[in-house]
This record gives sequence, structure tokens and C-alpha cells, in this order.
Amino acid sequence: MGSTTIDDTNVTDPRLYLDGVPHERFARMRRAPGLTWHPYGDDGFWAVTRHADVREVSRNPEVFSSAIGHTNLWDLEADALEARRSLIDTDAPDHTRLRRLVAGAFTPKNVRKWEVAVREIAVELLDEFVELGGGDWVDLVAAPLPIRVILSMLGVPVEDADYLVELSNYLVEGTGDTQSIPPDAFGNTTELRLLPFGSPASHALFEYGEEMQRQRREEPRDDLVTHLVEAEADEGRLSPNEYRNLFHVLVFAGNETTRTALSHGALAFAENPEQWQAVLDDRSLIDSATEEVLRWATPVLHMRRTASCDTELAGTEIASGDKVVMWYASANRDDAAFADPFRFDVTRADGEQFAFGGGGPHYCLGAFLARLEISVLLEEMAVRSIRLEQTTEVVRAPSNFVHGVLSVGMVPEVVR
Ligand code: HEM
Repeated sequence: MGSTTIDDTNVTDPRLYLDGVPHERFARMRRAPGLTWHPYGDDGFWAVTRHADVREVSRNPEVFSSAIGHTNLWDLEADALEARRSLIDTDAPDHTRLRRLVAGAFTPKNVRKWEVAVREIAVELLDEFVELGGGDWVDLVAAPLPIRVILSMLGVPVEDADYLVELSNYLVEGTGDTQSIPPDAFGNTTELRLLPFGSPASHALFEYGEEMQRQRREEPRDDLVTHLVEAEADEGRLSPNEYRNLFHVLVFAGNETTRTALSHGALAFAENPEQWQAVLDDRSLIDSATEEVLRWATPVLHMRRTASCDTELAGTEIASGDKVVMWYASANRDDAAFADPFRFDVTRADGEQFAFGGGGPHYCLGAFLARLEISVLLEEMAVRSIRLEQTTEVVRAPSNFVHGVLSVGMVPEVVR
């Protein structure tokens, strides 16, 4: 079997996503035989759109490399790739070494230790939201919850949450076509191509992480930054460049994605009140509802790999060096994995949602933490019998990488 090229199937134009994920185009690619060759810039990539194929790519890191090229769509020059390389853009053994440094903090057992803190933050935000009679769900609840949690884990002052959310918003802009800040914003003098997402906000986040590092070197504490500082001091375990990219990825990945899940979750429940009623009637549905929110939201739309050798997938021949892009947004709507995939169903028990990736060594480090945040928020909303009603149009991010929601008005109603 060969491959397919479909001209009207461009799914990389960031502006498309202002109207939501172009599901029709993905459905066409899923139905086409083999993999679809998708033009991109002067070249292109193999679009992996089916659930089973995403699983296959994710679980074969020797063939589908994260270190060659880049894990975003665009290529980077060798010096830029080195400067920007984080845990996400590595293969074993570097990946194994870096991941081991942080994995301990994110095991189910250790994540559960944060449950009380997560609940306190969720309750505070929900109480404020109800007291205000609603407002922008992203600003008031979805953004502050995950950033406060990850900052608490890192040991970063929570007072800086708004600043770090602001930086994250600029990083999201960096994944699209337009940036609203000049290259020298935040005192940046580094060439943008050397910074993650080509954004001066990455310079600011690097500086912030380095300041935290200085403080913890002088005064160690029981937090994640201190742990990384100690690993850096222990020669060979973490280089200065690895430290700053790891700090960057933990802050960005630790807040932007969960915020997106909480935003799409709120929208899904506002649009499907009977699904929320089902949760209110039966709290044991919280776990399956959390998985369904994740599937529905798919906050990270895709990740890229690069073939390390000639290979074959779904009957399509892939040459060494070809880009292979896994579209989680498509896999999570594949009817081969989920019955009636466009129905939001909190009782769903079929399929394994791929919001955290399709498995394998890069499977989301923060998956248990994100699940905890979503389920605790749902529980606390249920305890208060809060039903959300959407009051404004949703404003989405113009990005083909993150399924971002910039704002959406919601009012809380207490269900009797
Ligand atoms: C709903 C929330 C989240 C979603 C949807 C999400 C999604 C993802 C995805 C798709 C990947 C790439 C998987 C792959 O390449 O196979 C990933 C990796 C990662 N995520 Fe998450 N994530 C979320 C929350 C978090 C949180 C809370 C953290 C906190 C630390 C985090 C940290 C990371 C890191 C460090 C990686 C790179 C792991 C590696 O390359 O080994 N994520 N995430």
C-alpha cells in the first residue's frame, strides 16, 4: 500500500484553530489508506492520525526519534536544537538520565501528597468565582489552579503565578504565526531562534529559573528546584543548559496544558448539562469523567518524531530522516478506538485516551498530577452543586500545537 496526499487537508495553518480543531480534515486522513503525506514549508511530514498508529509510533522510540530534528513541526538548525533541547527532545540514554531526575516527584504516590494543597487552591478559586457571580473561567479558575500547583511543587513563590502565566501566554503565541512582543522584550538579547518557541518570554523564564537556582544554592529547601540544583552540583547529572530547559518545560507543560483541559472541560459540561447532572447524581463517575475531559480537550494537538532508519507504518514506507507527526487530536476522535467519538460521555469506558501521548518513554510526566487537578476541581464543583453556564463566545489560541482557550465567560448556578 502506498501513501495519500490530500490537498485540502492542511491542518497546520494556526488560524484554522481559531474555529476549533479541523476534525473533518483529520477524519478524511484517518479514512485514507496508509499515512497521509502532508506538505509543510519546503518539505512535509507523514501525518499519523489513527489511534493504533499513534500508539505504534509512541512506543517505538528507537525508530521514531525525539532527538533527531525536533519534536515540533519546524526544523531547527543544529546550534538552535542544542540550545533549546529539553527532556522532550531527547532519546535514551540522555532521556533516561533526565527523566529519572524528576520522575520521583510525579509518581502516583508522591502526587497524592499534593492532594490537600490542590484541594485548597481549587476551593479558594471556586469560592471566589461563585462570589463574583462568574466571569472569565480561564482567568479565574483554569489558569491559576495548575500554575499555583506546579509552582508549589517547584518551590517558586506563588505570588509570581500571574507573571509566569503571562510568560506562558507569550510562549503559546510563539507556537503560532504572530507574536505581540518585540524580540528585545524582557531585556532579551539572545537570537530568537535559540530560544524555545522562538519567544523572548523563554529568555525571561530562563532568567527566572536561574534566579531560583541561585536562591536554592544558598538556601536549600525541600522542593523540586533544590532537587535539580543538587543534581547539577553532582557532576554529570544535569548541565546548566539542561537545568534551564527542564525548569522551562516544567513551568510551561505544568500549567498550559492542564489549564486547557480545565477550560474545555468547563465548556463540555456547559454544553452537555445532562453529563454534568450524571456526575452530580453519581460521584463515582469522577474518574471516568476526568478521562473523558482529557480525551475531549486533547490540550496538546500533536508531537513530532523523526525516522531514524527506513521503516514502514500502516503499509506506508517511511524513509530515514522523514518527519512523522502524531496527531493526538485525531487519535482521540478515532471511531476505531471510541464508539461515537464526537459524543462527550462521562460514563465512557472504551478506548484509551491519548491526551498524554500514546505511551512509551515520553508519556506525560505530569499525567497523574493533571488527573488529580481535574478530578479535585470536578469533585469540589460537585460538592457545591455548581453548574456552569457559558456567557460569552470562546476565544481560542491561533495555534496548531496547543488547543488553547484564551477566554470564555461562565456563570455558576447552584443546582437544586
Ligand atoms: C492535561 C494536562 C496535560 C497534558 C494533556 C499533557 C500532555 C503531554 C504530552 C502529549 C506529552 C508528550 C508525550 C509524548 O511525546 O509521548 C507530554 C510530555 C510531558 N509533560 Fe505533560 N501534559 C499535561 C500536564 C503536565 C503537567 C501537569 C506536567 C508537570 C510537570 C507535565 C510535564 C510534562 C513533561 C515534563 C513532559 C515531557 C516528558 C518526556 O519527554 O519524557 N505535563 N505531556
